[in-house]
Amino acid sequence: MTKRNQIYKCTVCGNIVEIVHGASGQLVCCGQPMKLMEEKTADSSTEKHVPVIEKKGDGILVKVGSVPHPMEKEHYIEWIELIADNVSYKKFLKPGDKPEAFFPVKGETLSAREYCSVHLLWKS
Ligand SMILES: [Fe+2]
Repeated sequence: MTKRNQIYKCTVCGNIVEIVHGASGQLVCCGQPMKLMEEKTADSSTEKHVPVIEKKGDGILVKVGSVPHPMEKEHYIEWIELIADNVSYKKFLKPGDKPEAFFPVKGETLSAREYCSVHLLWKS
């Protein structure tokens, strides 16, 4: 059983998929069930992953995190998603980029998610 917006990962090949329409079937990749990624919401280490949302000028800035996250080849933020009033916006990042994304949108009900290549899925 899948639900919209869930993120699943294949632990064999690393494929990652997002559900846009949930249904009763089980997702399988490389011959195995895909793993549902848990949305973590609290950092216990010094490395900060929880997205920080700031309204800025003509839009919304999402930073990862309260201390900038590393953006190295083996450890970086792959994407940042903003959900503003039930509409989702996503920016894909690469090593060397700043660990943040600016979305030129407005919204009242805001949340954000990000995916770290090592520490997986986080939400605020
Ligand atoms: Fe990380």
